[in-house]
Amino acid sequence: MTELIQFDPKKQLFILSNAATTYLMEIVEETYLLHRYWGKRLTDYHFSNRPPLKKRTFAATPLIEKPEISPEFLPFEFPFAHQGDYRNSAISIQRENSETLTRFHYQHYEIKTGIHDLPNLPHARATDAFSQTLVIYLYDQIAELELALFYTIFEDSPIIVRSSQLTNKSQQTIQLQKLLSASLDIPYEQQLSTTFYGTHQKEFQLNRSPIQHGLYQIGSSRGASSPQYPPYLALSKDATEHQGDVHALSLIYSGNHEITLERDQYNQLRVQIGLNSQNFSWKLAPDETFCSPQALLSYSDQGFNGNSQNFHQFFTNHLIHPAWKQKTRPILINSWEMTYYDVNALLLTRLIDAADELGFETVVLDDGWYQNRNSSKTSLGDWTIDQEKFPDGLKPLVDYAKQRNIGFGIWFEPEMISPNTQLIREHPEWVMRSAEYEPILGRSQYILDLTNPEVQQFIIETLAKTITELGVNYVKWDMNRHMTEPFSQSQTFAASEYSHRYMLGLYQIIDTLTSTYPNVLFENCSSGGGRLDPGMLYYFPQTWISDNTDGLDRQQIQYGASYLFPISSMTGHVSDVPNHQTQRLIPFETRAALASSTNMGYEMDIIQLSTEEKEQVKQHIQQYKEERTLLMNGKFYRLDSPFDSNLCAWLFLNQEEVILYVFRNIYQVFDLSLLIKLPVLEATSYYQEAKTQQIYSGSELIHCGLALENPKGDFLVHKIKLKKL
Ligand code: GLA
Repeated sequence: MTELIQFDPKKQLFILSNAATTYLMEIVEETYLLHRYWGKRLTDYHFSNRPPLKKRTFAATPLIEKPEISPEFLPFEFPFAHQGDYRNSAISIQRENSETLTRFHYQHYEIKTGIHDLPNLPHARATDAFSQTLVIYLYDQIAELELALFYTIFEDSPIIVRSSQLTNKSQQTIQLQKLLSASLDIPYEQQLSTTFYGTHQKEFQLNRSPIQHGLYQIGSSRGASSPQYPPYLALSKDATEHQGDVHALSLIYSGNHEITLERDQYNQLRVQIGLNSQNFSWKLAPDETFCSPQALLSYSDQGFNGNSQNFHQFFTNHLIHPAWKQKTRPILINSWEMTYYDVNALLLTRLIDAADELGFETVVLDDGWYQNRNSSKTSLGDWTIDQEKFPDGLKPLVDYAKQRNIGFGIWFEPEMISPNTQLIREHPEWVMRSAEYEPILGRSQYILDLTNPEVQQFIIETLAKTITELGVNYVKWDMNRHMTEPFSQSQTFAASEYSHRYMLGLYQIIDTLTSTYPNVLFENCSSGGGRLDPGMLYYFPQTWISDNTDGLDRQQIQYGASYLFPISSMTGHVSDVPNHQTQRLIPFETRAALASSTNMGYEMDIIQLSTEEKEQVKQHIQQYKEERTLLMNGKFYRLDSPFDSNLCAWLFLNQEEVILYVFRNIYQVFDLSLLIKLPVLEATSYYQEAKTQQIYSGSELIHCGLALENPKGDFLVHKIKLKKL
């Protein structure tokens, strides 16, 4: 086994290196842990990039003999305050005497085989691939605090996993006010930052901009990773989708997070990621430890696509539960946009019949199935089946579907409670709220206090009962509002700990349920992609990425989300026209191609379809079944960005085949044809186009491109299948 981590005692250098990447840190003056390099694999290193140090006015000089060394400009691996580094710190504490000073000095290190297992948090999983973890211990002798920095590197991935951990070795209780997962001081080099912003129904909108002097921050304080600013940031200079250096970061966490960029007066760049430190403070009693979530550091010299490949493969191999890795996911028909809350036994029976006829594999009963749920205003928490809609319960329907070899799925929003429920009358103390202020409603509902073990148990038992009694094979786990009063009525910890404790409660619940029911497919949903993050992906292998099913908006949403997430982890449904979210009329082929570019399903009234429409759906499903191994397990590359132009193009490829989708939105008279270059093909191979049987060389498709028809009409799609010869 080749060592992935080494310490060079002469150079005082930690070297993390595999076939793709190298990460270097130096211990300076036996005290400071400094960052030296993160990027493409190096064969050897002799400090060629180490900047000469110079004495500076205003710079604090902790080493009297060496005034040229100042924390003001050292590239720290994990910076802390009050030592002369006036940039953002990665850790802050407060002691009983109210002091917030710390002086962490390098102490020792360990190299372990395997991953760093975080018992209460989602984390990178071990596989057969060799991995090693470096733990670097820093110590503050006055405050008696031990800071451990973890770095895991795998032989099969360019991604480095970082996290931190603080242990209180003193006799007094301290308040931990900030503990980030990773901090990096790197040269500025005119980079651009890429992040995503969004809202409900418009998730993952690309936000690329030059980095200014000063601070730039994204994050969430909503109690969920949020569609507003999901945990992703990339740095690039002149990278395209296919070429150039891209350094990207993400976080395996689903709650409040922050990502900060700080460009200082010397043009150094500090990049930080971790738990949101605003309104956060954690009581750490003697001998207690606090662990940060894990940050993912992904480097590629193959542009943004290369960087996405890193994440896609890492999530598939090291994050998603291995049981779901290559498992074929069922093609769903979901009841939501068919009838919304107006569901009943007869309708579901007819839906199962239609699903059977058309080739669907699972019928999903969305919201509206439990008592009196006829709008978003009622019933969350009272999870008993509505007797009027389903007089014989749901079991006969599940069995009816099973007889036809069709699975049955059900919707839940387990973290929520409606104001008028039996549950709230019995357990008013289960509501997340402050003792004095009236809680504020969101989508007419309150949030349950998931820090309360009784609530955790209630949710586990409620879902377990339904899953076991009905025998469903799929659960859609929804979460449709953000936190306004993150407080517990029954627990005694400080309010500043609440949001993180909520996440720990949620993870405990979903860990229990997914381990108890390994064959049930849990789909993550939060009004679409409201909690679409690597943390949820650890438990739930797929996510409904947007409530917006429109064939234009989905291009951007899917294109954006693919920066981070593999196609097999996203779901997309063909819905009706005019689209319910935008009223747009988009042709069936375009909607079908977009849904086929994810884990495919439908949500429309398939019962009422005409014979021709049924035939169209049947054919689409049949084709998807034939192609889904490539679509789900092949490599996915973005080609033309819908954020830049009228075109959106992407392709799927494996060793034998290629499927190219080109979405051409508005028809333009002056476009004679559409020219698409395919730079991800093999230059020396030959490819045969399925329809025309024409053979092209890889090099011509890469450099000349493929000219496609530009027919009249808006929102069209070209689907091109190529076979590698
Ligand atoms: C959210 C989900 C939808 C649907 C509704 C039901 O908005 O994202 O897909 O399940 O809730 O209320």
